[in-house]
Amino acid sequence: MVSKTVDSRLEIKHLLPENTLKQDEESELIAGLIQKEKTIPCHYFYDEIGSQLFEQICELPEYYPTRIEASILEKYAPQIAQLTEICELIELGSGSSTKTRIILNSYQNLGYPLHYLPIDVSDSMLFESAKSLLLDYPNLTIDALASTYEVALEKLTTIPQLLSRRMIIFLGSTLGNFNQLQCDRLIKEIKESLTPGDYFLLGIDLQKPRDILNAAYNDGQGITAKFNLNILSHLNWRFQGNFDLNNFEHLAFYNEKENQIEMYLKCKKAHSVRLEKLDLAVNFSEGETIHTEISRKFNLEKMSAYLTKMGLKTVQTFTDTQQYFGLILSQIN
Ligand code: TRP
Repeated sequence: MVSKTVDSRLEIKHLLPENTLKQDEESELIAGLIQKEKTIPCHYFYDEIGSQLFEQICELPEYYPTRIEASILEKYAPQIAQLTEICELIELGSGSSTKTRIILNSYQNLGYPLHYLPIDVSDSMLFESAKSLLLDYPNLTIDALASTYEVALEKLTTIPQLLSRRMIIFLGSTLGNFNQLQCDRLIKEIKESLTPGDYFLLGIDLQKPRDILNAAYNDGQGITAKFNLNILSHLNWRFQGNFDLNNFEHLAFYNEKENQIEMYLKCKKAHSVRLEKLDLAVNFSEGETIHTEISRKFNLEKMSAYLTKMGLKTVQTFTDTQQYFGLILSQIN
């Protein structure tokens, strides 16, 4: 059979009205920079260079999560496909869709039809990775959603469903970058965007000795430091700023009480910075920190109980021999 052209199997929907996102983002950034304990919203990590640096982080010897999650998927994706049977795959924060391929392979091997709905704010990333997937999977159709998670999940019920069930996939322990309140909200939105019998596949980084965790966010080549500092370069070009990256250093450590990696940029000397496009001046004192990210580390059983409480009943959990990383397949009641 001659497969349909790549273009005819791809649709990209832009769900965000340009300006709403921009204004929300700007006011959130300003609020974060003028408060006492300064913060920068973590989505500013991901400009072109930031996304490339993150791809490099995933290859670092110290950064085990990507590799271990991929190895768990390699081992168990066939079982996951058998458990869920035919379903549409909806991925939150699809990025370059590398791990998605492992999942697609197992659905393809069972002869299931393949329909994929990646959700990402970067439409160039969506387009590039969709094109490459469509070339490799001749029977795949893609309905890409250029959007924030929130907006896409809200619109999901209005998007025509082609296959009998849906599964939302959320990998890379990105849930760990949300605080508890944000996490509650997102899980609720996930649940409400699906219908009973649908699935949710979640990948989470697990609690482990702190030296391993500290090393994963303080790599020897300094790529994570570059990634963290790049958030300031991003603000410079986006808002005509004059952050001098030499005035800041990368700081990341495991907070054992909170079970989370905390990441900051620490100011080395007192100075002030201007962001022209926001008409904003910010003063920094020596030793002051800007909070940029948390990465929570979870307990598999507790997460499974939490999801059940939220209306997502665990079908099965999967982990590696060292129990470094976990996958939870759950189903809507
Ligand atoms: N979800 C990834 C994590 O929490 C994101 C991440 C990895 C990250 N390394 C980072 C975010 C360094 C900021 C800085 O592990």
